[in-house]
Amino acid sequence: MFNQRIKIKQLLSGTATGIEVVVMGWVRTFRNNQFIALNDGSTNANIQIVASLGEFDDAILKRITTGASLKIIGTVVESLGKGQTVEVKATSIEILGDSDAEKYPLQPKKHSLEFLREKAHLRFRTNTFGSVFRIRHSLAFTVHQFFNDRGFLYLHTPIITSSDAEGAGEMFRVTTLPLEGAPKNDAGEIDFTQDFFGKSTNLTVSGQLEGELGAMAFSDIYTFGPTFRAENSNTTRHLAEFWMIEPEVAFNDLEDNMNLAEDFIKHLIAYVMKNNIDDLQFLDTRLAEEEKQLPTEKRSGLGLIEKLKFVVENGFERITYTEAIEIISSGEHERYLVEQHFKKPVIVTGYPAAIKAFYMRMNDGCEPGKETVAAMDILAPGIGEIVGGSQREERLEKLEARMNAMHIPLQEMSYYLDTRRFGSVPHAGFGLGFERMVQFVTGMTNIRDVIPFARTPKNCEY
Ligand code: 4AD
Ligand code: MG
Repeated sequence: MFNQRIKIKQLLSGTATGIEVVVMGWVRTFRNNQFIALNDGSTNANIQIVASLGEFDDAILKRITTGASLKIIGTVVESLGKGQTVEVKATSIEILGDSDAEKYPLQPKKHSLEFLREKAHLRFRTNTFGSVFRIRHSLAFTVHQFFNDRGFLYLHTPIITSSDAEGAGEMFRVTTLPLEGAPKNDAGEIDFTQDFFGKSTNLTVSGQLEGELGAMAFSDIYTFGPTFRAENSNTTRHLAEFWMIEPEVAFNDLEDNMNLAEDFIKHLIAYVMKNNIDDLQFLDTRLAEEEKQLPTEKRSGLGLIEKLKFVVENGFERITYTEAIEIISSGEHERYLVEQHFKKPVIVTGYPAAIKAFYMRMNDGCEPGKETVAAMDILAPGIGEIVGGSQREERLEKLEARMNAMHIPLQEMSYYLDTRRFGSVPHAGFGLGFERMVQFVTGMTNIRDVIPFARTPKNCEY
């Protein structure tokens, strides 16, 4: 067995000295031909390895370069250096993999995020991305904890689908038909009956519709998977492939839905504050330094951890769409609403039906032409929309009327309408954009920096 090592995080959390350990990792720096800062990704903190002068061959020492991988056997000793309690006095140094110092793209200095985006395969080895992706992992893990603890069932909704859940037509087509000379039908259109699935198919934009089918049996379900949008938005908030968490709950109304979403977001933040405080502290400092470069009026005021604590400890603001418009129309930009006016997440309800998806429940008693739906979006400071959700239209006739008005083919959605035909119940759900949540928790301004390998218009590396 080769892998009998102690992880650096565990090593640094102990104070026992005099014991022999094996550590493995990648060299961050090598100073004075004596001190190796070794990192294995378990924490941003490096273990200092001391290669005492005269004890190792020059041939070995020359190969200890930034990026090289090492196996160290040594003794844990008390550290005299600042910021660490223990270090390892090496008795054996084995080079597992060399790293040509001339060619290795990551120098022991600060690189720009733009530069690192081009080197996404190596950026995991930096402190910033180490912290971001350990936090991303923790968030993903505790998503399942949150729902499992509440008796939700994790439903794996399909990635390839024949329906457009959002009705927005922003889908990536899935086909095995040839691009040239695709078979045509009598009407001269592409004949998808000859395609792999015998019909036109796409990558899913949302697992919601299938989620609703599950909720009509299990009561409480959630999905957590990749979703795809072929929208040509080159912004710091949009990806073509992103992950979404979508709970769907039978017997929940809009208020239950808002409460669930607020509890969920608070749980995610509280979990990271408890379990990833080192990484949060690193990102907090990083953000504070970055903000120093900004003009005073553009600074966020609160530090990252302060902001997260504030969100966990205070209720989200809840306002209607009409109220939101009034505040914004006093001359301010939409971001003003959350960032300056309320300074905390805001849940906006009661959107005009005209700008929302077909499945949202029509509010009763609206003036003709001024219909609103039981939608709720959550807007977060610095992020904008982080959650989109609604109570669903459970009344068959109203749903059919809405779908007809929006030219959604009832025939193809017959399976969905069955939920309203056979034991329909009030129900509600929402989608939390996972990367936007990771952005909020880590303070990263560009969404490309919180997903390992970003897919955006004109960019699909790796
Ligand atoms: O508001 P959206 O489009 O809602 C739905 O898809 C519903 N079916 C959800 C539901 O009710 N079950 O998307 C939900 C969230 C947004 O609030 C946003 O956080 C995120 O998904 N999102 C994106 N994140 C990154 N890149 C994109 N292109 C995104 N589009 C939406
Ligand atoms: Mg939305």
